Amino acid sequence: MRIGSIINGQEYIEEDRETLSVRNPYNDELVAEIALANVSELQEAIEESYEVFHNTMKKMPAHKRGDILREAADLLEAREDDFAQIISKEAGKPLKFSRGEVQRSVQVLRFASEQAKDINGEVIPMDAAIGGENRLGFTKRVPLGIVAAITPFNFPLNLSLHKLAPAIAAGNTVVFKPAEKTPVSAYMLVKLLHEAGLPQGALNLVLGTGEELGDPLVEHEKVHKVTFTGSLPVGRRIREKAGFKKVTLELGSNSPNIIFEDNDVNDVVTDLVKGAFAFSGQVCISAQRVYVHQSLYESFLAEYKSQTESLTIGDPLDEGTDFGPMITEEAAERAKTWIDDAVKNGATIETGGEQRGTILTPTIMTNVKSDMKIIAEEVFAPIVSIIPFETEEEVVQAANDSIYGLQAGIFTKDINRAFRVADQIEMGGVWINEISTYRQDNHPYGGVKQSGIGREGVKYAIEDMTEMKFYGIKLT
Ligand code: SIN
Repeated sequence: MRIGSIINGQEYIEEDRETLSVRNPYNDELVAEIALANVSELQEAIEESYEVFHNTMKKMPAHKRGDILREAADLLEAREDDFAQIISKEAGKPLKFSRGEVQRSVQVLRFASEQAKDINGEVIPMDAAIGGENRLGFTKRVPLGIVAAITPFNFPLNLSLHKLAPAIAAGNTVVFKPAEKTPVSAYMLVKLLHEAGLPQGALNLVLGTGEELGDPLVEHEKVHKVTFTGSLPVGRRIREKAGFKKVTLELGSNSPNIIFEDNDVNDVVTDLVKGAFAFSGQVCISAQRVYVHQSLYESFLAEYKSQTESLTIGDPLDEGTDFGPMITEEAAERAKTWIDDAVKNGATIETGGEQRGTILTPTIMTNVKSDMKIIAEEVFAPIVSIIPFETEEEVVQAANDSIYGLQAGIFTKDINRAFRVADQIEMGGVWINEISTYRQDNHPYGGVKQSGIGREGVKYAIEDMTEMKFYGIKLT
């Protein structure tokens, strides 16, 4: 399979182009060759997006935008298997999680389809100001123009749709640069959206490297908004380069989960194992730090270890696989060095910690310290640390001792404590009796501190992808 950029409906796949190979991270099999776009083609994509915004998308009625998104949801639902297979091949994600991702993506499209018809302004009480009598004022939410969507490899379909679907719902056009490792599902998605009725040029796919295309895309004066999910250093650079553009950044975390003493270990361990090891921990809200009350610690650790060791490691395309590769061998090696550093400084590997190529076996660490990388930074790998605590005050302080603040989980049957702790946790989102890794696609999702800026969750993304415009009338 050879794929290329799609600009104004035309595909750029000529033989003489520079190419990148997309390989299955589990067995290195070739999945696709991608023909790369250059900077002048990126500029062409931006110019097309500009034309189509002014001539078509800006004028398209809400019911039509809603219809396109609903039709796209139906098409995607019918093609769940094709999309799940390709996500598993290009990202190495176990098939059952890839299917879950496609199902969530269908919901994102349905939420966006509904939300397209519910973008509201407000009436301003003009006579509240002295002299404002006989004036009528109201606001509309209007589309911004061109949205640049830069997406990661870990949820190549759903995190792309969290940017594309709200942008289209609001009447914007999009220049879409997906992760280099996972462009095939992005390519299939763009084709599907066009098949659903999206005008050519309203969504332009640009396949290329971040090094070459990133800055020119973010800096271009005709781009009005940049929405990015990925690493903190890249997010910081985008913030610096974006100037006056609106920016949404979703940059990860080292999510804490707190297990108080009133829990039954058997009720919580299974979800927390999944929360740490789903897609090999390559999830921004992965359960990286698990704080367990001292009184439960030994039994929790024993059960956690036993369930971790029974995960089926293998080919992501096998239905029975729970745990597959990381995205690249370098990513697995980097994570392994963090484990080794922690061990040198006194940490213990309870299980796992073995790296073979792209596989890093599910790893449980104990005796960790707050300044170790596996605690202080985002591991983005299958490494969980299990940490005992005694008091509520101590665990809240430990959970908040982070440069990140995306999402946390608190487990307790005491409703007063649950809300007291949730109020003190410095995060964009807190779950009570649910793992930090759980996300529903219609709740506000985004971080505080260095986890990012802005919120996704369809309705909230639409707020950030529209501008409030005031209209005033003087009645005569
Ligand atoms: C992420 O890794 O930020 C996304 C997590 C999710 O959507 O489940």
